[in-house]
Amino acid sequence: MKITFIGYGQVGLPLADHLQRLGHEVRLAASRPTSDNLQKAKARNAQFNILPPQQAVKDAEVIFLATPFQANETALQAVSEELQGKILVDCTNPVGPNLSHGLNSLQSGSEKIQTLLPATQVVKAFTIYGFENFENNHYPNYTVKPAMMYCGRDDTAKSVVKTLIAELGWEPLDVGGLEQALHLEHLTLLWIRMVRVHGHSPNLVWARLTR
Ligand SMILES: NC(=O)c1ccc[n+]([C@@H]2O[C@H](COP(=O)([O-])OP(=O)(O)OC[C@H]3O[C@@H](n4cnc5c(N)ncnc54)[C@H](OP(=O)(O)O)[C@@H]3O)[C@@H](O)[C@H]2O)c1
Repeated sequence: MKITFIGYGQVGLPLADHLQRLGHEVRLAASRPTSDNLQKAKARNAQFNILPPQQAVKDAEVIFLATPFQANETALQAVSEELQGKILVDCTNPVGPNLSHGLNSLQSGSEKIQTLLPATQVVKAFTIYGFENFENNHYPNYTVKPAMMYCGRDDTAKSVVKTLIAELGWEPLDVGGLEQALHLEHLTLLWIRMVRVHGHSPNLVWARLTR
């Protein structure tokens, strides 16, 4: 599958690297050709195809957005035409002062993006815990896989993202439509507060147990 990353820092780079090694054609949308993150990405995996943003998005099937939330609008505006009809995996989280919700819980970041890009299918995924678990999602003492919750309005787009989540080694957990994104963003804030403030392990993940 042709997959483009807008943003390849702590979150984007490990996901891009794993997906390339799984056999996907991974492109990086390089808006700043001199950035440290781009040099790190090149050093980590020489198979990445590094292209100007519009070209990188143009014939991708799936685009991952892994930019700081405040940069989302600028990053997306540059490629809004090319994103029409595509699947956008929103890995971003709106984080405000004192680890509050960055949009005051009035709207999720993903719904805001969906409003900006009505002809794009936005799926929220890869947000609910820290980047450490995107680097390495093996938990050898357990037989259950970590759950990766995702949501979006379009079932076809969600089924594509579900496949990528499973290929990457998580248990995909569809939590519903994009209106659920706000709750995932709060779950992320819970994780950030537990780990970054209260000292829980950064390798703490969520899992699904049912009976
Ligand atoms: N860190 C975590 O543990 C974690 C976990 C889950 C979700 N998230 C969310 O994931 C997102 C990315 O976090 P991160 O920690 O990976 O950030 P990061 O390490 O700072 O990387 C950010 C990436 O976004 C790019 N970028 C910044 N402004 C841009 C713009 N205007 N246009 C295009 N690209 C731009 C940067 O480009 P350059 O290469 O030019 O610097 C860099 O590649 C955030 O929204 C965060 O809330 C983070």
